[in-house]
Amino acid sequence: MADERFTRKELNAGTLLAPLPAVMVTCGTPQAANVFTVAWTGIICTHPALTYISVRPARYSYGIIKETGEFAINLTTSKMARAADFCGMKTGKKTDKLKKCGLHTAKPFKISAPIISESPLALECKVKEIRQFGTHDMFIAEILAVNVDGRYIDSKGKINLQQAGLMAYSHGEYFALGRKLGNFGFSSHAK
Ligand SMILES: Cc1cc2nc3c(=O)[nH]c(=O)nc-3n(C[C@H](O)[C@H](O)[C@H](O)COP(=O)(O)O)c2cc1C
Repeated sequence: MADERFTRKELNAGTLLAPLPAVMVTCGTPQAANVFTVAWTGIICTHPALTYISVRPARYSYGIIKETGEFAINLTTSKMARAADFCGMKTGKKTDKLKKCGLHTAKPFKISAPIISESPLALECKVKEIRQFGTHDMFIAEILAVNVDGRYIDSKGKINLQQAGLMAYSHGEYFALGRKLGNFGFSSHAK
């Protein structure tokens, strides 16, 4: 049924998908690691587990990832909001952003680039393909390992990120994830 109660407005076509994760992408080596913030990311496929990050070629990290063929996607929490913003504002060309933000690194399982210890979950990724579109190049990557803070694995081995305090990004603003509304499929379970 058509709803005429409110006026809808057309805006110019743009990238207004929200909320998105603002992840911190680590790259490089344990001795020379860099980190930058990425909102243009997502999952492409379940099997094989494929993800992407879209990166402007001007970013310092772009060359590192292109050369090493690896990166890690570190999920961010409310506590990491300031660091995520900082690492998305400053280049790592001359600054050790991880150090400056007081972040620690942890050992990855399958790649060389370190992950961020403060992040509850990191995806260790290997680049499969780089696609050029315009402003950003898309790094399509295979997820080789999921690196989780053990505190978020319950006694049954299930990942439970509810207590992690994950953060979301919506049109230039950072938000703490709020109240849980239901579990996947909860609409289908008869009461
Ligand atoms: C919330 C947020 C999201 C961002 N998303 C992206 C992104 O998806 N792709 C990108 O190329 N840059 C993105 N940036 C900008 C880079 O993180 C920023 O230019 C950073 O300083 C690059 O660091 P680097 O020069 O050390 O690689 C984002 C910045 C912020 C704050």
